[in-house]
Amino acid sequence: MERPKFPRLAQNSLSTAGAIVALVTGLIMIVMLGISLTGVETNAYFGIFVFMVLPVFLVLGLLLIPLGMFRQWRRWQRSGREEMPEWPLIDLNRTGHRNATIIFLVGTILFIGIGAVGSYQAYHFTESVTFCGTTCHEVMEPEHTAYLQSPHARVACAECHVGYGAGWYAKSKLSGAYQVYATLANKYPQPIPTPITSLRPAQETCERCHWPEKRYGAQQRQSFHYEYDESSTPWAINMLVRVGGGNPILGHTAGIHWHMNVGVDIEYIARDERRQDIPWIRAVDRNTGRVTVYQNEKKLLTEEEINSTPKRRMDCVDCHNRPSHIFHSPDHAIDEAITLQKIDRSLPDIKRIAVEAMAKEYDTKAAASAGIAGTIADYYKLKDAAFYHANEVQITKAIGATQEAFSKNIFPWMKAKWSGYPDNIGHFINPGCMRCHDGKHKSADGVTITRECNTCHSILSQGRPDSLQMSTSEGGLEFVHPVDISDAWRETGCYECHQGVQP
Ligand code: HEC
Ligand code: HEC
Ligand code: HEC
Ligand code: HEC
Ligand code: HEC
Ligand code: HEC
Repeated sequence: MERPKFPRLAQNSLSTAGAIVALVTGLIMIVMLGISLTGVETNAYFGIFVFMVLPVFLVLGLLLIPLGMFRQWRRWQRSGREEMPEWPLIDLNRTGHRNATIIFLVGTILFIGIGAVGSYQAYHFTESVTFCGTTCHEVMEPEHTAYLQSPHARVACAECHVGYGAGWYAKSKLSGAYQVYATLANKYPQPIPTPITSLRPAQETCERCHWPEKRYGAQQRQSFHYEYDESSTPWAINMLVRVGGGNPILGHTAGIHWHMNVGVDIEYIARDERRQDIPWIRAVDRNTGRVTVYQNEKKLLTEEEINSTPKRRMDCVDCHNRPSHIFHSPDHAIDEAITLQKIDRSLPDIKRIAVEAMAKEYDTKAAASAGIAGTIADYYKLKDAAFYHANEVQITKAIGATQEAFSKNIFPWMKAKWSGYPDNIGHFINPGCMRCHDGKHKSADGVTITRECNTCHSILSQGRPDSLQMSTSEGGLEFVHPVDISDAWRETGCYECHQGVQP
């Protein structure tokens, strides 16, 4: 068979090398795109390879062809060996030129085709949970792990972190490119700082799925606690949280959501980056336009500080700041494991000792596993070896459950855990609502942002299961603290004593 003819100009080593590189990568890409279209392969590294590494080689290969031809052209011109026209001639009557032109046209069509499918796939890929959650595996592990157990486990990372529209897409890819570099260069912060200052406003993310005016009415919330005594005595709290609307006590347009988002616009100044210390708040009533400024009397800001500090407009994320990445405290995680009967409450002191084991500082996951096993097993062995042997199965199960609780909520490598990522819903182990509702924020005419317990919720029942106190009225019960702290809870916030481990 005769060798296919090409223009002599293209017959140089650089162009040939380029053509081979482009051809080989092109073929690999077609095969891999085919695989990715079937949707079987979801590994992040596969995606990075197909959508980010291979295209670079393809384009490089393609660029080498004209570069080689250009060099050859210059070489011929300089050598003066032949009479060179100023521009290369394309003569379709010559087989070589015809072949090259056909290859060029077919190649371009193919390239545009692959490029269109590829960049569409690449777009989806870089927006996928696999990419966001597992590419920089160690860095994103805390957020990804917590996300997989959250109510939003089926909502893609990008729905909250990027949203729609080309502007934010480009913005996120630019900062993403830096993040990939930071990860490769080992320059990322541990832990990752929260909150994200550049998070897209909630109106453009959360509110695409959640309609702020929706009336939720009151939501029933039930929690099971266990005391730190020998029998890990259970304590249940069942309450109605007045999220908003349709409420018999506050009327139709009332509740948490009404005041915060529909009826009033709220702006505030935070002293710290985590927005936990809020000395100044301005509320503008949307109906009347009335403006009220509330200040923490004990921590007044100067006029100058108020004017010069940026104010944040309150949105969903100021309360729901952990809708998807909740790192539970040892206290909560162990309560949950006992409730789910992963830990047998009949083991004496189990709540106290499991929380203690989980809350210790460990450098690695492996150290945590070993440390938890050691702490719990040693405790029972030392206390009563006979008891330990008789109950080894239950104790081993409790160890397993505590290790699991640890691995889902505490991430030694990224230094991510409950205490570094305060959850602003409620006020049990973080100030949350009481950043403003602590009874210390007053307006000039003497109005205090309410700390009245029944404004936000009413307690339906509370207490030990065998002597549960039930409410018989709409207003609910007065709070009872499980152990005697006299009336401290009336003045002191729960979070001032409860920090996620034994108070
Ligand atoms: C339901 C919306 C939502 C989804 C889905 C979501 N996030 Fe987040 N994410 C948030 C919010 C809200 C914050 C906290 C922002 C703040 O406090 O300002 C956050 C914070 C983060 C942070 C900063 C560190 C921290 O924990 O505060 C990282 C990293 C992160 N998310 C990664 C991810 C990844 C990876 C995914 C997908 C696996 C994901 N997110 C899915 C809403 C979401
Ligand atoms: C792509 C749609 C989508 C987006 C965007 C989204 N959510 Fe959700 N959200 C859902 C769905 C669906 C549920 C219900 C999940 C279920 O009950 O199984 C939900 C549930 C919730 C709940 C109730 C959780 C619970 O404990 O039952 C809260 C609170 C919430 N979302 C807040 C937010 C916030 C805050 C944001 C923005 C940071 C946000 N969501 C963004 C779809 C979304
Ligand atoms: C002032 C604080 C606050 C703000 C601001 C706020 N929420 Fe809530 N929201 C709550 C509380 C408190 C609850 C009920 C308790 C809980 O979820 O733990 C709740 C409940 C919800 C629920 C769950 C209702 C259910 O049926 O379980 C959704 C969904 C929700 N909020 C979405 C939003 C969205 C979207 C925004 C922004 C438009 C928003 N919230 C703004 C405090 C707030
Ligand atoms: C940044 C400060 C701030 C935070 C944080 C905050 N609030 Fe408020 N809240 C206010 C202000 C200010 C008002 C009074 C608005 C006005 O002047 O009309 C208010 C009013 C309310 C009201 C109406 C009170 C009444 O008298 O009827 C409810 C209910 C409420 N908040 C619930 C919550 C809940 C629940 C949380 C936590 C999830 C929370 N707020 C967090 C500032 C805040
Ligand atoms: C500004 C609104 C607000 C005020 C005022 C308020 N709470 Fe709460 N409280 C909440 C919210 C929101 C939650 C979290 C509900 C949830 O978990 O979904 C909560 C949770 C609780 C819980 C359950 C804790 C748990 O995790 O089991 C108790 C008990 C409680 N509050 C008692 C009180 C008492 C006592 C007072 C008065 C000193 C009070 N609250 C004042 C908003 C408020
Ligand atoms: C003055 C400090 C103090 C304050 C304020 C306080 N507690 Fe406690 N709390 C304790 C102590 C101490 C224990 C006992 C721990 C044990 O069982 O040994 C405890 C135990 C508990 C328990 C059972 C064990 C557990 O940790 O789950 C619950 C539930 C509880 N408190 C809820 C609350 C709530 C809700 C508030 C706020 C309304 C609150 N506490 C305010 C000190 C406090």
